[in-house]
Amino acid sequence: MADVTTTDEFTAGPLTAGQVACLGAYITAIVLWTVAEYLNYNRSHAKKHQTHAHTEAAELEGKALLELNGGAAHVDVEASSVDAAAVQPSTPTPGIDAAGKANYAWTSSAFYRCLTLEEDALLASREALRSAVEFGTILVWFYVADRTQLIAPGTKTYTRDVLLFIFLVLTAVAGGYSLKQHRPLVLHRTQTEEWKGWMQVLFLLYHYYNAKEIYNAIRVFIAAYVWMTGFGNFSYYYRTADFGVGRFFQMMWRLNFLVLFCCLVLNNSYMLYYICPMHTLFTIMVYGALAIGSRYNKSDTAIWLKIAACFATVFVFWELKFVFYTIWRPFMFLVGYTDPRRPGGDRMYEWFFRSSLDRYIWIYGMMCAFMHPKIEKFLQAVDTMEVKRRRVTRAVLIGLFCSIGYAWYHFVYCLPKVEYNKVHPYTSWIPITVFFMLRNLTPQMRTFSMGLYGWLGCITLETYIGQFHTWLLSKRPDGQPIYLLTLLPGYPLLNFAVVTALYVALSHRLFLTTGTLKDAVVPHDDNRLLLRNGLMMVAVAGAAACFGFLMVEARTMLGVV
Ligand SMILES: *[C@@H]1O[C@H](CO)[C@@H](O)[C@H](O)[C@H]1NC(C)=O
Repeated sequence: MADVTTTDEFTAGPLTAGQVACLGAYITAIVLWTVAEYLNYNRSHAKKHQTHAHTEAAELEGKALLELNGGAAHVDVEASSVDAAAVQPSTPTPGIDAAGKANYAWTSSAFYRCLTLEEDALLASREALRSAVEFGTILVWFYVADRTQLIAPGTKTYTRDVLLFIFLVLTAVAGGYSLKQHRPLVLHRTQTEEWKGWMQVLFLLYHYYNAKEIYNAIRVFIAAYVWMTGFGNFSYYYRTADFGVGRFFQMMWRLNFLVLFCCLVLNNSYMLYYICPMHTLFTIMVYGALAIGSRYNKSDTAIWLKIAACFATVFVFWELKFVFYTIWRPFMFLVGYTDPRRPGGDRMYEWFFRSSLDRYIWIYGMMCAFMHPKIEKFLQAVDTMEVKRRRVTRAVLIGLFCSIGYAWYHFVYCLPKVEYNKVHPYTSWIPITVFFMLRNLTPQMRTFSMGLYGWLGCITLETYIGQFHTWLLSKRPDGQPIYLLTLLPGYPLLNFAVVTALYVALSHRLFLTTGTLKDAVVPHDDNRLLLRNGLMMVAVAGAAACFGFLMVEARTMLGVV
């Protein structure tokens, strides 16, 4: 088979402590979930019997009882609603003791009570346990696909025709069958999600087909994501002033939970998935910009000063390379990376390079969010102009943005990769601005968005991470995903269809399970509970790590390979 490579250089490496620890956690979750399902089955079974008995009794006594006492029906309803509560208990909350006060003792946590096989806790946590098992199972599949010899990888071939064909067909379907209408707001959430979605599709196809010729466009897309990080987060914090740690940690969980487990299970560096550290850092910086001295956020001058301070910070920490290196050196374990196919060299380079490319654009995103009302007012003023003037104004605007866009294309975009990267940090705001201004020019354009791309835009993090292990393959720790997952060798297009369906479905499930687990563990507004859960997680991780190290040690000592 021509499209399958030899497997000489593929290696999973020896099992690591992290992998053993995750396996231990996974097996524990399976056991607990099985018990929870069993208990639930028993209860609903018991309930069914009970309801049967109820119905029979009710039938025997018949209407007479109801006529005699109208309350009987009411009693019945109450009884069955109690049953229902037992079968499907509410989401786990901290133990509430008899006095009605919240109980923060470790032993009252759902986690501890599940471990001690307490029935109520297991039943109440059934959904979370199911999510944990599903999440773990998907990661096991990642390991099987990307680290074992079971799946032979295919190699990439680029055909511009195929890439464009796939993108156009998808866009036709998205535009023809998934148009959504909402209020004509400038850069409405559904619109930014749609934007993320179609960019993600091109970004992924770029990886799948190794389409080197659109490298510069991909850099712009990544800049647009980072722009949206600044835009979305600024809007949120500026409007809500919700600087609570609960919300902060929920966001950190969302950004890093999946990637953490991918790193552990596949023995990869965090930096292999560079989008995650980059968005995490810039999200924290937006948060910091607004949370520090938040009582001054009401003043426009203060906001502009903060934005200026952000530029100054970025200038000092990136533009002066030695400052960047000095600050990050202690965090090398987190941000260091070496491509195993090109060993040696500067382990910090990848982080410096990736974060440098988009170092300013998140600040521009904050500026756009801050000026959003003004941009909106301007566009609405154009909408309400008298017909002839409106047409002329719009024509002028279109002409203006198209000329700017073309000039950028000609002088910047067409540069070769290395030269392009040098100017990218200072120019990426141009195509982004041109795009969102043109995209929002008329109320009709603001009103519509493509739901299919919006849906894909919600799971970009999962499709980004998932592509490494269940669409593309890297086949070795820290390897770049240079192979293709090939389930139907010899049928590249059919294989693409099958593998893509699997990959998108799994990404969506990862998105949902990450959310369920987040809700089970990270409370939004109970900081004490958050602290307790955090400490418990540290303790559990510590115990799991010890277990992992001991197992690995034991194996080495016994000489098992
Ligand atoms: C903040 O940025 C992160 C990272 O891009 C993103 O996932 C999240 O949705 C943003 N938050 C808001 C409120 O837009």
